[in-house]
Amino acid sequence: MLTNRQLFSRYMGLPSVISDPVEIIRAEGIYLYDDAGNKYIDLVSGVSVSNVGHAHPSVVEAVRKQIDQYMHLMVYGKFVQSPQVKLAERLAKLLPGKLSSVYFVNSGSEAIEGAIKLSRRVTGRTEMAGFAHAYHGGSLGALSLLGDEHLKNAFRPLIPDTRMLPYNSFEALEQISERTACVLIEPIQAEAGIILPKPGFLEAVRRKCEETGAMLIFDEIQMGMGRTGKMFAFEHSGVVPDILCLAKAFGGGMPLGAFVSSPEHMSKLTFEPELGHITTFGGHPVCCAASLAAIDVLFDSKLIEDADRKGKMFADGLINKPGVKEIRQAGLMLGVELCDDGLTASLMKEFSLNRLIVDQFLFNPAAFRIAPPLTITDDEIRKSLELIIHCITIANNHTTI
Ligand SMILES: Cc1ncc(COP(=O)(O)O)c(C=O)c1O
Repeated sequence: MLTNRQLFSRYMGLPSVISDPVEIIRAEGIYLYDDAGNKYIDLVSGVSVSNVGHAHPSVVEAVRKQIDQYMHLMVYGKFVQSPQVKLAERLAKLLPGKLSSVYFVNSGSEAIEGAIKLSRRVTGRTEMAGFAHAYHGGSLGALSLLGDEHLKNAFRPLIPDTRMLPYNSFEALEQISERTACVLIEPIQAEAGIILPKPGFLEAVRRKCEETGAMLIFDEIQMGMGRTGKMFAFEHSGVVPDILCLAKAFGGGMPLGAFVSSPEHMSKLTFEPELGHITTFGGHPVCCAASLAAIDVLFDSKLIEDADRKGKMFADGLINKPGVKEIRQAGLMLGVELCDDGLTASLMKEFSLNRLIVDQFLFNPAAFRIAPPLTITDDEIRKSLELIIHCITIANNHTTI
């Protein structure tokens, strides 16, 4: 009989080769446990999903309660389902007035698809603008606005009429015109290695969209839901998008996404033609119940307002350590840039040997990310820092020998 590890490699389609896969059998708070009884510290949160920690009791209880009532009933939008409507209302009340119509989907990629389709319906235009080093998902629409030619090239032709602009370049915004349906941007770039917008940049993008009638779409799939020290990353600049995309932590650990716009704009998917976007599982009631519980935890446990202090504890502990070139921090999301790619590769091995779950970014090979659950305690941060510094010391020795 094959072991689960062998089944993983033999029968599963995989996005990359994992040489020594680990089987996780339980997860709680910031910890994962494998089948041999080893404990891992999760400093990635399943890539910004587990903002309230793994298996938070309130989320687990909400999921159990909803499963007892009903699971899937019908394709999206046919029946009134209490978890969906309560979550839509909750979200609308947390957002500025014009963002009050919530379309639930399954994932981040689907939220992006819905948002770009909506922008094309509202404007009647086709051109779309995105930014270098942005990641928006694996579907073809999202891929068309992904900021990396290597990942795109194997799948061309993609959606035509796209323009990729350099992030933080004010001059490049001149390329946005009366032909542009949407400008898709992360208010803080994630996979680029945590790149913050220059002062005034998002405001300039907003102004350009106003001037040209292009719709501004914010991808907060990775940076939203309290991660950066505000519930939504756009609150740092005060720039409000025309469409907001959410997923990842939005589901509290369950698969859920949404794109949010004004009722007037959103109605374009309801009429002429109707069925402008269809989804079977979008807004699954169990996922919406989990999301509602997770949002309560974020506010009731004051996780959002404490994220920046905790992020600074990590930054202060790592700044000036040998090999560390720069630290970029937004709340409890850090991009730690090292002096060379070789050191990062050797450090990743040390992290794994020390059972620290730390991840690199898609588009920045010299940096690694620290994004633990927002529930991490000060003691857990100190312990994690000790381990990270130990790993950095060993990786430096390996690289300089
Ligand atoms: C910023 C951003 N947008 C979109 C996506 C796509 O989300 P999903 O993997 O749920 O399709 C991701 C996933 O990593 C992301 O980081």
